[in-house]
Amino acid sequence: MSRIFLYADSADREAVGGLLGDRLIHGVTTNPTILRREGLGAEAAADLYAEWTGRGAAEVFFQASGADVTSMEASGLRIAQLGSNAVVKVPATAIGFPVAARLAAADVPVLVTAVYSSAQAVTAAAIGARYIAPYLGRLDDAGVDGLALVREMVTLLSGTETHPLVASVRSPERIVELVASGVRHVTAAPTVLRAALLHDASDAAAAVFERDATV
Ligand code: G3P
Repeated sequence: MSRIFLYADSADREAVGGLLGDRLIHGVTTNPTILRREGLGAEAAADLYAEWTGRGAAEVFFQASGADVTSMEASGLRIAQLGSNAVVKVPATAIGFPVAARLAAADVPVLVTAVYSSAQAVTAAAIGARYIAPYLGRLDDAGVDGLALVREMVTLLSGTETHPLVASVRSPERIVELVASGVRHVTAAPTVLRAALLHDASDAAAAVFERDATV
């Protein structure tokens, strides 16, 4: 039986810091859009990396960017140089795959992101990526059965050293469905991760225990 790894898909310092402080997540995933949402750019990566690893993040993901292979690879190498807990995200594109392959060949941990097909998943595994990130919610938005596609990827990658780390996961119920489908790595917004902790009946039971503990 293998462990389950949850990640915060966010750069909200307070929310991410809280999850790390509560030891509820293994790491933090970001992308340029997530950074931008918090008014941050690529230059914030060093500070965020130090802050999050200092609070116990085992893996911190930043995305490489660049209009060509050379500049995207340079961006990825800058991320890798943040430290051994850094993982470089590279988009599943004609530019991104060669960058991912070069970084992986240099022993840089790589996640190929925005994976929308099993062929992309297989290619990412063939070049030695540590992770692929299919976007569950966005697959569903696009009219694809996202869970069925993720299941196919799980089967295809079984026995390889490449793991699906599923993103665009918008509810606790989706996390459960993913794990039931064999996924062991899931990233979601802090609100979704916090919601996964809660059940009204648990709160009611705990309230009774508290009351009885104090009489
Ligand atoms: O990591 C990708 C994720 O941020 C996208 O989520 O819900 O906007 O599709 P969503």
